[in-house]
Amino acid sequence: MNNRNEIRFLLNGAEVAAGDVAADRTLLDYLRLERRLKGTKEGCAEGDCGACTVLVGRLDGGVLKYETVNACIRFLASLDGCHVVTIEHLRGENGGLHPIQQAMVDFHGSQCGFCTPGFVMSLYALWMGNPEPTEPQVETAIQGNLCRCTGYQPIIAAAMAANRYGTPANDFLEAERAEITRRLSALNDGKRVVTGPEDNRAIIPADVDDFAAVLEEFPNATIVAGSTDVGLWVTKFMRPIGPAVFIGNLSGLKSIALTDDTLEIGAGVTYTEAQDAIREAFPHLEAYWDRIAGQQVRNMGTIGGNIANGSPIGDTPPVLIALGAEIVLRRGAEQRTLRLEDFFIEYGKQDRHKSEFVESIIIPRAAPGQRDAAYKISKRRDEDISSVAAGFSVTVENGVITGCRLAFGGMAGTPKRAAAAEAALTGQPWNQAVFTAAGKALEADFTPLSDWRASADYRTSVARNLLQRFFLSHDEATGEPVDLMTA
Ligand SMILES: Cc1cc2nc3c(=O)[nH]c(=O)nc-3n(C[C@H](O)[C@H](O)[C@H](O)COP(=O)(O)OP(=O)(O)OC[C@H]3O[C@@H](n4cnc5c(N)ncnc54)[C@H](O)[C@@H]3O)c2cc1C
Ligand code: FES
Ligand code: FES
Repeated sequence: MNNRNEIRFLLNGAEVAAGDVAADRTLLDYLRLERRLKGTKEGCAEGDCGACTVLVGRLDGGVLKYETVNACIRFLASLDGCHVVTIEHLRGENGGLHPIQQAMVDFHGSQCGFCTPGFVMSLYALWMGNPEPTEPQVETAIQGNLCRCTGYQPIIAAAMAANRYGTPANDFLEAERAEITRRLSALNDGKRVVTGPEDNRAIIPADVDDFAAVLEEFPNATIVAGSTDVGLWVTKFMRPIGPAVFIGNLSGLKSIALTDDTLEIGAGVTYTEAQDAIREAFPHLEAYWDRIAGQQVRNMGTIGGNIANGSPIGDTPPVLIALGAEIVLRRGAEQRTLRLEDFFIEYGKQDRHKSEFVESIIIPRAAPGQRDAAYKISKRRDEDISSVAAGFSVTVENGVITGCRLAFGGMAGTPKRAAAAEAALTGQPWNQAVFTAAGKALEADFTPLSDWRASADYRTSVARNLLQRFFLSHDEATGEPVDLMTA
């Protein structure tokens, strides 16, 4: 089958066929510089401030879903087959202000106005799925939006009142849903897309087999999933990324299979897509999940990307290693499975061969007697990278620790298990003296660095204290979880 040489998507009401789209062309530059749609703002150009928030709609198993994304770090080529909705497209029932916009006006949710379009788009996405949110739910929805002058209280009040101004059932995107679904389906011709200049090619494989073939053809291609890391290589470090292969919309990498024994997640599953299964299989990760980035980044970023980037401060590797996760790597038709902890060889080096990609992550369900915890320590609660992250999975039988996996991020050049502390716990009774000894043993496990996030001493103390907190968070006699805030 011939390749297609242009990307096709819907921008607000219009169909766009864009040829010669370079791999590193961002959606934000395209909107502002080429389409002169300047309602979408550029604040940080690194996914942090939310001023560039737009909605992206895509078909998921035939169902049209809209999510917020950061246009500054989203590449245009990744939007093939999608519906991009910018602030200019919003309207109310009678063509006036949209309910979210009217609520922002009435509740004084805007001062200089620079952040306002981004907030409106985030609140719009929230209102579509949850028209009567609680205050914590609003806070989660706007984790990825910064306002320097209004202050958040009026914005939160506007969000909570928005449903009085109009309901999602009467929204213009709801009215267009069937038509947009039809138009997006018609854009999907099942072809590989190859576009952009020769030294900056963007390639969108037709499916996962085609992705494997592309990587064999272009072993040095940059894999782009959610682009929440790769986007910054372009906007902050001006690094060339072509040829780049865009895998964010490959349905074959988006499977989520929850059985009695395992949760298997395709490498292209985003944090948002994984959330329900994670909550069901590993309830201790629910709050942790909301601490990863902000909503827009969780809508784009994938677990596969978080692992493949090899960062020592990625949030998912420590908790997945603690749970005993494995990853499936694939090259051509060949697959191999390895323990996640073995993937990380040293800082900047992973056990991934040329043309190989992460296909899925397999996480065993908890065994009887297993006590799990996940902790993230960062300077800010929201939208911040970890100074230290920890995942603990400890099995206790008849008061004795029979199995133990303690993994940390931010303590070494890779996410790493604490072998000495694990040895200090294994075979011992679950009690204070044993946990104190294990906390001391952590000093033999790690020689952390000092950097602007945290000093080495701070990291060591935090790691020890997290282990202590883990101990205190379980009733010593019954093992039942204890809420330390109320205990
Ligand atoms: C504002 C902001 C906040 C953030 N906050 C956090 C946070 O709190 N915690 C955290 O851990 N991270 C955070 N990140 C980093 C980032 O969001 C995560 O690392 C994310 O999971 C990366 O996934 P992605 O799909 O966007 O990867 P991409 O940027 O597309 O790719 C990342 C790397 O993985 C490679 N890759 C991607 N998929 C595959 C695959 N299937 N096989 C092989 N290689 C692959 C790419 O080539 C690249 O090297 C943040 C980023 C931003 C911009
Ligand atoms: S411009 Fe700040 S998140 Fe995009
Ligand atoms: S209104 Fe000025 S930054 Fe939010």
